[in-house]
Amino acid sequence: MKHLTKSYLVNPTESLRKDHALIEKMINALKIMSTLLQKGTTIPKPILDQTIDFSTNFTNQCHHGKEEESLFPTLEKNGMPKEGGPIARMLFEHEITKNLTNSIIKSTEVYLSTGQPRALIEDIEKYVEHVSLHLSKENQRLFVMADMLLADKQEALSNDLTNIEQSKLNSINKTRRYYEDLVENVTISENKL
Ligand SMILES: [Fe+2]
Ligand SMILES: [Fe+2]
Repeated sequence: MKHLTKSYLVNPTESLRKDHALIEKMINALKIMSTLLQKGTTIPKPILDQTIDFSTNFTNQCHHGKEEESLFPTLEKNGMPKEGGPIARMLFEHEITKNLTNSIIKSTEVYLSTGQPRALIEDIEKYVEHVSLHLSKENQRLFVMADMLLADKQEALSNDLTNIEQSKLNSINKTRRYYEDLVENVTISENKL
């Protein structure tokens, strides 16, 4: 019988692409939230809190941490310049994402104390637009370049990304499963409103 070798390989950026798929689900939940708010539907605090938890801890801390502490330095070591290229641009866009998250946190407080949704709707729309564009730039450009440039470093990069994810989530006592379930919960809860 012919011996079958295990020859399938995942891309070096596979773990980051999986994060993007989860973040995109939250982006969809935010779009639904904006529509509901525009229709005058009240969004309960627990749903808003879960959205902020995900954006702050999963997207900004965990996912951006994996890119900034592992992917970007590895790309630099393998010849991609830090300044004036896609790495500098992505770092700048992470800063904008953080600022937009802070705006949502503030406008959520306003919404919960006054019931006025206007600022929250605007901040959600800005966040959705910026993050959607950022994810597609990474998926279609940076990660494509990274998969080529780092093709022979797949295992080392994957291990590194896994370790950073574990340590980021351990530091806040959460798991990846927790954030996967959270996104499902937000979506299911919105469908019931
Ligand atoms: Fe990024
Ligand atoms: Fe990303």
